[in-house]
Amino acid sequence: MCGIVGYIGSGNAKDVIIDGLKKLEYRGYDSAGIAVVRDGKLEIKKHVGGIANLENLIGDDPMTSNVGIGHTRWATHGAPSDINAHPHGNQDNTIAIVHNGIIENYQELKQELIEKYGVEFKSETDTEVIAQLIGVIYREKKDLLDSVYSAVSKMRGAYAIAAVAQDEPDKIVAVRKDAPLIAGLGKDSNFIASDIPALLKYVKEIYLIENNETVLLTKDQVKIFDENRNEVKREVFHVTWDADAAEKEGYDHFMLKEIFEQPKGLSETLNRRLNDEGKIKLEGITLTKEHIENISKIYIVACGTAYHAGLVGKYIIEKLASIPVEVDVASEFRYRSPLVDKNTLFIAISQSGETLDTLAALREAKDKGARVLSVVNVVGSSVARESDDVFYTWAGPEIAVASTKAYTTQLMCMYMIALYMGLEKGSITREYYDKFIMDLKAVPDKLENFLKNVSQIERDAKMLYNKEQVFFIGRGLDSAVSYEGSLKLKEISYINSFAIAAGELKHGTIALMEPGTLVIALACQDFLYEKMVSNIQEIKARGAYVVSVAKEGNDAIAKQSDQMIYIPECRDEIAPLLSVVPLQLFAYYVAKERGCNIDKPKNLAKSVTVE
Ligand code: AGP
Repeated sequence: MCGIVGYIGSGNAKDVIIDGLKKLEYRGYDSAGIAVVRDGKLEIKKHVGGIANLENLIGDDPMTSNVGIGHTRWATHGAPSDINAHPHGNQDNTIAIVHNGIIENYQELKQELIEKYGVEFKSETDTEVIAQLIGVIYREKKDLLDSVYSAVSKMRGAYAIAAVAQDEPDKIVAVRKDAPLIAGLGKDSNFIASDIPALLKYVKEIYLIENNETVLLTKDQVKIFDENRNEVKREVFHVTWDADAAEKEGYDHFMLKEIFEQPKGLSETLNRRLNDEGKIKLEGITLTKEHIENISKIYIVACGTAYHAGLVGKYIIEKLASIPVEVDVASEFRYRSPLVDKNTLFIAISQSGETLDTLAALREAKDKGARVLSVVNVVGSSVARESDDVFYTWAGPEIAVASTKAYTTQLMCMYMIALYMGLEKGSITREYYDKFIMDLKAVPDKLENFLKNVSQIERDAKMLYNKEQVFFIGRGLDSAVSYEGSLKLKEISYINSFAIAAGELKHGTIALMEPGTLVIALACQDFLYEKMVSNIQEIKARGAYVVSVAKEGNDAIAKQSDQMIYIPECRDEIAPLLSVVPLQLFAYYVAKERGCNIDKPKNLAKSVTVE
């Protein structure tokens, strides 16, 4: 997630801003920058990499100024680089802005600015479009607040923006739509920021800025206006958090925060790729109808959680696009002389984009002539750079080692890839496609509602946290999800956890069933529901303690289970997007009850960049 910090007051803006940006480093970023107005001149300094690189660039220059804005960038459009870093200026460098979010119609706006105003763009970002747009409007209006209002009325997407103007060094203008923004109220100084940690050192009183509100900051006052420019009166929010709690926005751990961020991540990953007719627009992906028709086999290759996303991807792509799919862990793929040729599509899935096993497998497939599509969360990462096409999961930075929101947004990408290929190939009808998209669009709200009451899962976890071994079982897509549920539990609670296809139990594993053995049974596939009920009866007969996960309304299974967790009703194919969440939460609450280091489990790294 990008971080924004702005300051106007009697102090030196550069010092306050750099300090504030450092407090936002936990959000993950790839470049940083600052803009101040010094002696009537706008100055922008920015650098790829950490804030230390920016400080080295600034050196001993005090950049003396009472007004400025700063930014830490999490790339979405345009790889991490000096030129793509924020702040971005307009053509004559009299306006500077910083931005968090995605402008959906930036291409159209960019084209108009080039053709109508002769603007010459320097960067690949959607953010520079905002700076240039405000700049051309400012030439006529000569008023920053007016210009921001006018520019924003042309933009579609999500944004938190802060802007300064060389000719108006007594103010900062900021605006919020679907990206966080707060204003800090100081003594003869005021602040704007993405998040509370940036300001905690200076202020404890803030305004929470709401959607479609614009903020005018001077050193003596903060005014908030609605979209019709009516001034809004806002209650002061008194911050009681300490810095650590503030970084997690009040959640006890990043993992829990990221579990609860999933509805937003799913919505961003899907909706920003739907055009006005509801068709998937795979921006920047060059996989044509001809390419798709010539694909003889797809390999999905990844590690850990990303591999489990591939297991779901296999079912869905084979069903919707009728193309054979093999799923492999990257560390195995490399050494088994895989049958790859120019008609192979190699899909690499990786949250970090730096997992060495996955990167090495990708290179092996490319050497053998395969076309590479990667599903990655970190823009400009190694896997992304070495792929022919990249499908970004817009989950935002995932800080906890245990992957959650990256997994569900990876699944969303699997669905979109399958739908896109199926429609291009004609293996699904446009009617089927539209209905599937409608069902996907309903998931974020369903998940949001589910997350409103997870107390049952917490109670189950508190009752079951001391089990020494836990089994996860399921059939079909539920089997794929059970592997992910098992990994979550073992990697953060250190309980020996085991996933197996329910139909496989009778071929040996059922010998392990004893009175009290804990089994988490997934039964979210209607067409396999009866078989799952039978499997549960078999293990109950041997004394197992069964916690079943099923869709609302499926009561028969409750009679066979010791505990029930219901997920919202949905079509079978997209049940994984919902059924994995109770498993994530179960693992989280068990690990919490066991006093484990949830965000940084022992022996694990967020990105495994070694063999
Ligand atoms: C998942 O919770 C683990 N952190 C781990 O299995 C992870 O999924 C795996 O290392 C792959 O990482 P990547 O997605 O960054 O490639």
